[in-house]
Amino acid sequence: MRSALILVAAVAVAAPDFDREVRPLIEKRCVACHGPKNAMHGLRLDTVEGALRGGESGVPAIIPGKSAESLLIRYVAGQDKEIVMPPAGPRLTTAEVDLLRAWIDGERARPKVEVRKGADHWSFQPVRKPEPPPVRRSGWVRNPIDAFVLAKLEARGWEPSPAGTPGQLLRRAHLDLTGLPPSLAEQDAFARDPDLGRLVADLLGRASYGERWGRHWLDLVRYAESNGYERDGHKPEAHKYRDYVIRVFNQDKPFDRFIAEQLAGDELDEVTAETLIATGYYRLGPWDDEPADPAEDRFDQLDDLVSTTSQVFLGLTLGCARCHNHKFDPLTAQDYYSMVAVFNGLERPRRGRTELTLPVGNTSEIARERERDRLLQTHAAVAAVQAAGVGSPGAEVLAEIAAIKSRQPDLPRGYFLHEPHGKTPVTNLLVRGKASRPGPEVPPAVPAVLVREQPVFPTEGTRTSMRRLALARWLASRDNPLTARVIVNRVWQFHFGEGLVRTPSDFGTLGQPPTHPELLDWLASWFVENGWSFKKLHQLILESNTWRMSKQSREPQATEDPENRLLWRFPYRRLEAEAIRDSMLVVSGRLNPRMYGPSMFPEVPEAALEGSSDPDKIWKMSDEAERSRRTVYAFLKRSLIVPMLEVLDLCDTARTSAQRLTTSVAPQALTLFNGDFVNAQARYFAARLRREAGDDPARQVELAYRLAVARPPTQAERARMIRFLGQQSLEQMTRVILNLNEFVYPD
Ligand code: HEC
Ligand code: HEC
Repeated sequence: MRSALILVAAVAVAAPDFDREVRPLIEKRCVACHGPKNAMHGLRLDTVEGALRGGESGVPAIIPGKSAESLLIRYVAGQDKEIVMPPAGPRLTTAEVDLLRAWIDGERARPKVEVRKGADHWSFQPVRKPEPPPVRRSGWVRNPIDAFVLAKLEARGWEPSPAGTPGQLLRRAHLDLTGLPPSLAEQDAFARDPDLGRLVADLLGRASYGERWGRHWLDLVRYAESNGYERDGHKPEAHKYRDYVIRVFNQDKPFDRFIAEQLAGDELDEVTAETLIATGYYRLGPWDDEPADPAEDRFDQLDDLVSTTSQVFLGLTLGCARCHNHKFDPLTAQDYYSMVAVFNGLERPRRGRTELTLPVGNTSEIARERERDRLLQTHAAVAAVQAAGVGSPGAEVLAEIAAIKSRQPDLPRGYFLHEPHGKTPVTNLLVRGKASRPGPEVPPAVPAVLVREQPVFPTEGTRTSMRRLALARWLASRDNPLTARVIVNRVWQFHFGEGLVRTPSDFGTLGQPPTHPELLDWLASWFVENGWSFKKLHQLILESNTWRMSKQSREPQATEDPENRLLWRFPYRRLEAEAIRDSMLVVSGRLNPRMYGPSMFPEVPEAALEGSSDPDKIWKMSDEAERSRRTVYAFLKRSLIVPMLEVLDLCDTARTSAQRLTTSVAPQALTLFNGDFVNAQARYFAARLRREAGDDPARQVELAYRLAVARPPTQAERARMIRFLGQQSLEQMTRVILNLNEFVYPD
């Protein structure tokens, strides 16, 4: 078991003596509230250790040798605007304050080892690879995943569910991996040769895989293309980060590399346009371009980075330790500000309120552009002097400027934060999270409870501080207990609706423990051994009989384990907004498969624009072909989420989002049954049926079911729909089909 060792400074003797001289004063005036019986704000002053540890603000009450910086002195001497100690009764006399000062200045730090409470929590322990357990029904086990799942079922005397039908598995695999339904030709091919392994390999090789799984990542990193807040200005070039993520998944870039590019793409040995765009990660969050208090705002921006990074990669709510020590996990305010120190060199490129983009390219390309710009500036200055003298710049200078520009055109631009110097500003712990109340200085570090020894953070680099690269390396190091567990749990969740840990971004003490702890650790080890490859992990999961189970319910399992924690069947779950919209476009035959590039603007009803001050400017709807691209290419404006997507539970874009909700509200039915988009697709779908099935209602119904839900209609469905067509139009029928429960809740 690992326990965090924390160095705490403690006493050596010096005048005045704590027990003889200081303690009586503290007992008289402080211990009623800061003693063993009543440690208000977590602070005990009856021992020196208590004073050194400090209270919930996370700041030590005394800093040995530095009375002027000690919180205790600031409070008793009335130097803090908001807090005076003791809070009631007469203030300490000058002589008493001086005694406390002399005591603190006389203290000498001596390291002392303390075990942090809560360090024995399961997720902080190293990952071990357990042996798959023995099972009775070994014939069901296709790979170790099945053994771990089956062992738990057998312990309850339960059997796993039978496999879904080949048709169900075909549709499930398509939607799961690509977010699109199978075509007729694909259905026919699979019926001839239902080889699921080959199908999975085929689907993982498609571009639509990255569009589907990249979107999952975009939820986590709070992707949107505007800043939020009052003005909600657009983030230029932000879509390049989205395209980067889609490519990452399609190329199966190893996850450790993906971490390093996003967190430190500008600090790698080899910097490229791609790795710079990856650091767009830092600039995706909401941002107030007219903050009331710029100092607070700076820390809000840093908080966005600390909170997002710790939740996404570590599954820790470190953001809770911004104003006080974490109330539940062994994470201190010191840990929080140590992480702030890692990011504190980052700056927002901007001029006044104008957001700036930066050139992207490799290091020498960027250096050459800088040279060129210097040259252009010199020529521009000459031109300006000539203009001032003769009224217009000389033709020669202008020609030279044009020649330079055509010889060396601008590099493409990207949208990310940068570290303009190798020297990072000092980071102080902030008392109660307030920028106006700096406490002691903190060095860059990772949460102490997770390490025996801190990774080495450079104090100063040549180009940048190189601190983020140190963080990225530690995140992906073998002795980090969280990163691999957290990411395999996320992948599991996107396949099964729920993770093995059902609080995917909180692996702390308030999170849920894993339903299958050994399986989680086995997967985490396997993932790292297999080069952090997502595609291999998908293959492993989809190969298992666990993933192939039918979602059919039965008793007594449904009563005894209604949440399916033991995985006795495939879960029941709704498609995400994007997969619903994209499926409709495929079925209607209108999907525009064009990938990448600037976003398109889907249809937004007039009513949604009415509240805006400038409805004509705020949303310029794209033409229909553009709008018919996959939903991952839809513009995400924080103050105006496309209503159809919002109603279908698109994630919150203000912060990292680990899991989509599935709400059931009336506007969903209206959107799906009567929205402009659905009506249009129903018309195209009907036209397609006429084109491809002719006028025969039986053939139209047959084709409609196969396109929409990848199976022929049952006898009863066929009869009912043919009757329906006797009274209603084909457009009405296609609308009904797009609203089948099975369309959004695939088997
Ligand atoms: C009547 C109860 C009471 C007495 C007596 C008292 N305190 Fe406090 N103390 C508090 C409370 C309540 C807080 C939390 C204040 C806040 O943050 O708003 C606090 C907070 C503090 C803190 C900050 C702890 C942290 O980490 O946030 C220090 C330091 C402190 N007291 C020192 C003293 C000293 C020194 C004395 C005696 C000279 C003293 N207090 C007497 C109630 C008391
Ligand atoms: C912006 C500052 C700030 C942040 C961030 C913050 N808190 Fe607090 N929290 C406070 C203040 C102020 C108090 C009241 C004084 C105290 O107990 O320290 C408090 C008190 C609490 C309490 C104690 C309530 C009580 O009755 O003792 C809990 C529990 C708590 N916070 C949990 C959390 C959690 C969980 C998070 C992260 C989700 C969090 N806090 C983030 C400022 C913050």
